[in-house]
Amino acid sequence: MTVVLGIETSCDETAVGIVKDGKTILTNLLASHVDAHKSFGGVFPEISSRRHFDLLLPLVKEALDEASLTFSNIDVIAVANRPGLMGSLLMGVNCAKSLAYALNIPIVSVNHIEAHLYAAMMSENDFTVPSLGLIASGGHTTLVNIMGINEYEVIGQSVDDSVGEAFDKVGRLLDIPYPAGPKMEELARGGDCRRFDFGDTRLKTDPFSFSYSGLKTKALYLLKGQNRSSKDETILPQDQFSDFAASFQEHALTPLVLAAKNACLEFGISKVYIGGGVSCNQRFREIFDNLMPKHVLVVWPKKGLCLDNGAMIAGLGYQNFLKSGQKGENLSLTAFPSGKCLSL
Ligand code: KG4
Ligand code: ZN
Repeated sequence: MTVVLGIETSCDETAVGIVKDGKTILTNLLASHVDAHKSFGGVFPEISSRRHFDLLLPLVKEALDEASLTFSNIDVIAVANRPGLMGSLLMGVNCAKSLAYALNIPIVSVNHIEAHLYAAMMSENDFTVPSLGLIASGGHTTLVNIMGINEYEVIGQSVDDSVGEAFDKVGRLLDIPYPAGPKMEELARGGDCRRFDFGDTRLKTDPFSFSYSGLKTKALYLLKGQNRSSKDETILPQDQFSDFAASFQEHALTPLVLAAKNACLEFGISKVYIGGGVSCNQRFREIFDNLMPKHVLVVWPKKGLCLDNGAMIAGLGYQNFLKSGQKGENLSLTAFPSGKCLSL
């Protein structure tokens, strides 16, 4: 039995999870900083780093208590070290290295985006390869062919904003505070998703890649008037906001499902793993149900594993630990802020 403590600090949530043998979640705790960023309309990196500094060690202690464990029960420390905000990642990485050194146990690094896919794989007894992965988060919109753990081929991605970012930015135009995704979904409920046409976010030149800038501009012009700016007054009547949100949501999500469907057909794949915060969206799941051929199984992360969390880091950390021949990595490991794709 191997117990891994996973640390996730890539953005605006401090998260700690403890997982046994890559699958069994013993605890999964989160301390969000969302409130601290609200007035900025997005994540303020320096505030995020400071919050991680304050929150992380107490959260590690709380996670151990909640799982009725002590440090002596932890076999491996796993930490998300890429991609993300540099200052935030470094908080997690330095804490993880200190713990591994003090406890004299191995440390492994984890790609946060890959972990979002592992969050869906965790609920299965055996993950199937080859399969398709779709990451729909606040930082990434990426389609990958999955050949195995750490073996991914990016087949498409957003060339500008991510789908989650589009939800956040369009929500902001409606004065919905960051992160606007959940509230936008709520506003869309009962709205007419055919009322407004936002076009297709898939690139004409590459059907597995996306651009969300056109969708955002259309949203702006619908709300404020043609060629207006975000500071201008909203002219769309309030009783049409629900139709607006439903149409936006439909046009933001449907192209992702169509691209995933076409990729499955083209590559002969019958299983899709979905990951990232946007996978919380219930309409996203309905569109998949409606459009995906029935022979394709779509696997979603369980509740508590869609958004950033420590359990997915601990889970994938276990797999990385096995891949390292149960040795782990050198304590010189560090953080990497960038990386559009998985193969860093
Ligand atoms: O994966 P995540 O927790 O963080 C990143 O790695 O980026 O994703 C956060 C993103 C935010 O953009 C948030 O607005 C979006 O996920 N999100 C949603 C919903 N819940 C969270 N977007 C649409 N519908 C939702 N219900
Ligand atoms: Zn994430």
